[in-house]
Amino acid sequence: MSEDPAGTHRVIEPSVLYLGTPVYLVATRNPDGSGNLAPASSHFALGRTIVLGLEEGGQSLENVRRHPELTVSFPSSDQWGHVERLAGVTGRDPVPAEKAGAYAFEPRKFERAGLTPIDSELVEVPRVAEAPIQLEARVRRITPATNGEFGMVEAEVVRVHAALGIAGEGTNHLDPEAWHPLIYAYRHFYDRGAEVGWTRKSPLATPPAAVERWETAGGAWEVTYLGEASASVDLLRCDGGEVVETLTLDDPRDLRWAAVQLAISG
Ligand SMILES: Cc1cc2nc3c(=O)[nH]c(=O)nc-3n(C[C@H](O)[C@H](O)[C@H](O)COP(=O)(O)O)c2cc1C
Repeated sequence: MSEDPAGTHRVIEPSVLYLGTPVYLVATRNPDGSGNLAPASSHFALGRTIVLGLEEGGQSLENVRRHPELTVSFPSSDQWGHVERLAGVTGRDPVPAEKAGAYAFEPRKFERAGLTPIDSELVEVPRVAEAPIQLEARVRRITPATNGEFGMVEAEVVRVHAALGIAGEGTNHLDPEAWHPLIYAYRHFYDRGAEVGWTRKSPLATPPAAVERWETAGGAWEVTYLGEASASVDLLRCDGGEVVETLTLDDPRDLRWAAVQLAISG
């Protein structure tokens, strides 16, 4: 361990970098046609592609090499116990040498987890009925990791199933307030925390109509105050910059918009 010159950080050698990622349950097709189910957290998604990090020697990676389809079911934070019931088992028989002693062979993973397999619509792999978000995907490429320890499984998501309480009514959006992913950080499970900020693209942080009108007419504006329940915006003349009017905002969307403006301006 060493100290950095500013004294604010030190160099450490953690064995893993589990900084906090949503847990998923990956289902794959066993040689006998049944579904294998394994908990994992390594992944990212961009557009309709999801990339999973699946370890070599596991049944999941072997299955997708043989049958290139999978489902990814995201449990909610209160379902962590089901995930943990799968933590000490593998669908691989015999259990690989590196897992011997620590893992047991379990051919019926869904039953073991206390979860229900439900047929998918576009792929021949079941989903987890209880999971609020379920993705059906086709594997497009598997790239071995340079250290030989895992495969990067690139899959195209072909169908998304979202529980009614999470799928925003009448939209194709997920409601981030209603969705509680199970976060895995350094071998602890967490719920996500409270909402702390928004982006300028957030549908819940739209500009107040009066500010939009002012801007369209060529005027400038400045957020001058943001409190818990209200914010102030000065509408400025575009030439001299004098304050023409001060708006008081109290609509939650307007307050979020004001917070984003203050964040951007630093
Ligand atoms: C919370 C959690 C996260 C995990 N993350 C991963 C992961 O990202 N990738 C992976 O290959 N295994 C991960 N594992 C380990 C696998 O679940 C484990 O190796 C399991 O035996 C694989 O099952 P299989 O051999 O039937 O595929 C994780 C396990 C738990 C409990």
